[in-house]
Amino acid sequence: MEAKKLSVLIAGCGRVSEKHAKAIKTLSDRYKLIGACDVNENAARAMIANCGKAGADAKVYNDWKKAIDELSPDVVAITLPSGMHYEVATYAMEKGSNLLLEKPMAMSEAEAHAIYDISKKTKKKIAMGHIYRYLPVVKILRDDIAKGVFGKVTHGSIYVRWGHGDDYYDSAAWRGTWKADGGALMNQTIHAIDLLVWLMGTEPIEAQAMIAQRLRHIEAEDLGYAILRMEDGSLAHIEGTTATSPAEHSAEFSVFCENGQITMGLVSGKPHINIRDGAGKKLNFRYLRKQNKEGGLSSFKTALNPHLGIYKDLHDSIINDKEPIASAYDGYSSVDTLMGIYKAALTGKAVELPLKESFSSLDMKDYFKDL
Ligand SMILES: NC(=O)c1ccc[n+]([C@@H]2O[C@H](COP(=O)([O-])OP(=O)(O)OC[C@H]3O[C@@H](n4cnc5c(N)ncnc54)[C@H](O)[C@@H]3O)[C@@H](O)[C@H]2O)c1
Repeated sequence: MEAKKLSVLIAGCGRVSEKHAKAIKTLSDRYKLIGACDVNENAARAMIANCGKAGADAKVYNDWKKAIDELSPDVVAITLPSGMHYEVATYAMEKGSNLLLEKPMAMSEAEAHAIYDISKKTKKKIAMGHIYRYLPVVKILRDDIAKGVFGKVTHGSIYVRWGHGDDYYDSAAWRGTWKADGGALMNQTIHAIDLLVWLMGTEPIEAQAMIAQRLRHIEAEDLGYAILRMEDGSLAHIEGTTATSPAEHSAEFSVFCENGQITMGLVSGKPHINIRDGAGKKLNFRYLRKQNKEGGLSSFKTALNPHLGIYKDLHDSIINDKEPIASAYDGYSSVDTLMGIYKAALTGKAVELPLKESFSSLDMKDYFKDL
């Protein structure tokens, strides 16, 4: 049976929207692009062209509100600067659209909470752009950790050394600002924080953190460390930075358990995987075979563009009324954790999570000025 085609409006046609265009083009049996919006109309036109025949009837807009009002799309993909997510997300859901919302969900705990509440009230799905959850093998590992295959989780760690030069930050005025982006933790590391918490199968209850500005000329941090205490007593360690070489991107997570340990990531641009049982026996091939059996070869293609996985999942969620793998709650929860981390860096004190009162990235605006 042919899948129901969902209509999509892409709001924001910059860097990340290219991944969205590729996914929509590949999934032309499930999606049709009906509009692309950007203040730069040429960017919107290019975006439509990149969607191939899935974008054949799409219209160009430079005003996102007008685009939502006129098109009433099934899905609004919000790929605008992070500081705009709250306003566009709430408006689109109130008007009846589901969302593919890029990370971070919003720039404050209150905004993220409101987006989550509105998604519940309006019964609209939100698939978050937390791409790491869609990498092959990760979901299978998550299920096995949850089933206790590796025994008790003791601790986890992530590092994201995603070097960006000043040219990256200079490419758009919003980048690296407290109001609209945040720093290396909020932009580049939030994916990995979301992934680690999800894999560990528990929730953070306390954050401690330090942040620094080492190389980049931005308002926010280009280096940050945090430690989370989790509800089940385990600990998680986080390092996130853009103050490394832009020519050498590395990001890795590890989960340590009583009967085994898992490390996966991209080291100097190359995939790295090391899954072992408690006796040190390597389980890599067992898991890769399992992935191949369950998802087929196409599941490995998702590694090249995880947005493909997000679009497939969102379609399934809307048609079959299921929660997306990275849901509205997950988007809220990762912003809550990030705000707790920033608050801990600001106050120099441990911060209880979830936050009792809202904290915003803008509350950090004088942090480096005061040092
Ligand atoms: N999930 C991921 O892998 C991933 C990767 C990169 C970025 N992101 C997120 O995606 C979002 C966009 O990031 P980007 O790097 O693509 O940014 P970008 O600056 O390259 O693109 C943003 C686009 O929005 C347009 N825009 C700005 N204000 C507008 C307005 N008022 N109306 C219409 N258009 C407007 C800009 O012209 C630009 O083309 C951010 O939230 C970022 O954190 C996610």
